[in-house]
Amino acid sequence: DPEHAGVQGMLWITSPAATEVETLVLDWLADLLDLPEAFRSASTGGGVIQDSASSGTLVAILAARERATEGLGNAEGLPSLDRTLTVYTSEHAHSSVEKGVRAAGLGSSSIRYVPVDGDFAMRPDALRAMVEEDVAAGAIPTIVVANVGTTSSTAIDPVGAIADVCEEFNVWLHVDAALAGTAAVLPELRWILDGSERADSFVMNPHKWLLVNMDCSAFWVRERASLTSALSIDPEYLRQAATDSGSVIDYRDWQLPLGRRFRALKLWFVLRMFGAEEIRRIVREHIRLTQLFASFVEADPDFELTAPHPVNLVCFRHLGGEDANRRIMDTVNDSGEAFFTHTVLDGVFTLRMAIGAERTEERHVRKVWELIRASAP
Ligand SMILES: Cc1ncc(COP(=O)(O)O)c(C=O)c1O
Repeated sequence: DPEHAGVQGMLWITSPAATEVETLVLDWLADLLDLPEAFRSASTGGGVIQDSASSGTLVAILAARERATEGLGNAEGLPSLDRTLTVYTSEHAHSSVEKGVRAAGLGSSSIRYVPVDGDFAMRPDALRAMVEEDVAAGAIPTIVVANVGTTSSTAIDPVGAIADVCEEFNVWLHVDAALAGTAAVLPELRWILDGSERADSFVMNPHKWLLVNMDCSAFWVRERASLTSALSIDPEYLRQAATDSGSVIDYRDWQLPLGRRFRALKLWFVLRMFGAEEIRRIVREHIRLTQLFASFVEADPDFELTAPHPVNLVCFRHLGGEDANRRIMDTVNDSGEAFFTHTVLDGVFTLRMAIGAERTEERHVRKVWELIRASAP
């Protein structure tokens, strides 16, 4: 198990291989997802593996905070700044945004939850209005976290229109594509990342849907200096010639902890073992199965779809109300045959079926639908 083989990749010098392989596979993954040149290691940016999307979002918030305060946050702490640093994300953002905001010392009250449209995607006009209002009130709009695939319903925020606002007001744009980002390996679904090429940072989780085991979260930044200047501290005991030369990457400066495992090796294995075409085949099949499941729901007069289903998640419900849906969910989950979870969309209790495991086949999806039907009132 390479991750536990004693590799310590905190500095380039402590494991040049761990560092170089990580840089290489994140460039490969950037190719596979068709991410912009600026995110590649040969450019101003680069990729790093974080333990989770939550950590990726946290370091994005920290980098944004330091950019907005010109280093004052780190140097003197936020109380020395008598202006509010404001954060924007959709009402449907994952809770990791609020956790990151709290950890970065900005406070939950600095978050503006931007209203969504009928498809649960962020409304850029509402974002603009909120940013303008905050600027007029003397606040510093600091970061927008856009979603490519919200947790509840895989809603895709209009990242291009959001980027327009960010560029106009000099706000850091972070894209959270934790689950749905994987779909961008398919040319026919690459549109979900439209606009993401303008982001300052971007996170997606190979450990969710790209066949890699926990934990492996891929994070890219446009200007690596903006990340490392927020996170780097250079005590004497960590200094050595390779770092001082400025020609190597020390990934400790791209994350909160110092020490780090060799997570890149499992991503290397997945990319080499399957190859791009096989990964595309598997992801395409998951999407086909998801659309098949959605067609079962659509064809049944007792059920309805409750959100668009562009990738691998179907939100649906029985028309019999919340109790009926809870009973269906509990009955299926208690059977041990399948496990699905719920959310609330527009005040309506909703069931959620996600397909993303390598070995899921059509017969499994048909079986789940039979179980749901059999558990329905
Ligand atoms: C959109 C989104 N962002 C972030 C996360 C958090 O991911 P992680 O567990 O890697 O922190 C999730 C997890 O469900 C998610 O769906």
